[in-house]
Amino acid sequence: MKKTDTQDGRAARKVTAKSSAAEGLRELFVDELKDIVYAERALLKALPKMAKNASEPKLAAAIEEHVAVTEGQVQRLEQIFEILGESNRGKKCDAMEGLIKEGESIMEETEEGPVRDAGIISASQKIEHYEIASYGTLAAFARTLGEDEIASLLEATLAEEKEADSILTESAYNSINFEAADEDQDQE
Ligand SMILES: [Fe+2]
Ligand SMILES: [Fe+2]
Repeated sequence: MKKTDTQDGRAARKVTAKSSAAEGLRELFVDELKDIVYAERALLKALPKMAKNASEPKLAAAIEEHVAVTEGQVQRLEQIFEILGESNRGKKCDAMEGLIKEGESIMEETEEGPVRDAGIISASQKIEHYEIASYGTLAAFARTLGEDEIASLLEATLAEEKEADSILTESAYNSINFEAADEDQDQE
């Protein structure tokens, strides 16, 4: 008898959740926007330090260029919050904090030069991939919610993140990584 009551209770709660599912997706969407705006602002502070630590001028230039691109991405997000009528205050993104910290320890643990450059590329690519995953999901959420203008803004940023990722891949496959490998061999 008691068991039946519990089952009924569960069923009732389920119906309530289902009726507000669309509202739930919008809430989740806004929540994740707050997460990524926090992440981008944190990156604006972290990227110049990474550029400064890079020895290869092309790598430093690529990171500096991405600082400018990131500023535009923050503005785009602020525009999105305005369209939604929501505050643009960010919400602490633990994932990005962790990725930035990881990058900082790589820089501390390596000697200046090709090995540190390879570490900077590795840390930056993890960051880019986090952003690519976030913006891909956000753009899909926006389309599902019928927010096409917002979806286009998010897709523009997604394209920039993919571009940054491929520039970093190129850097990784040109001289930088090979120089790092050579240096290790020389030490043996
Ligand atoms: Fe970004
Ligand atoms: Fe990025």
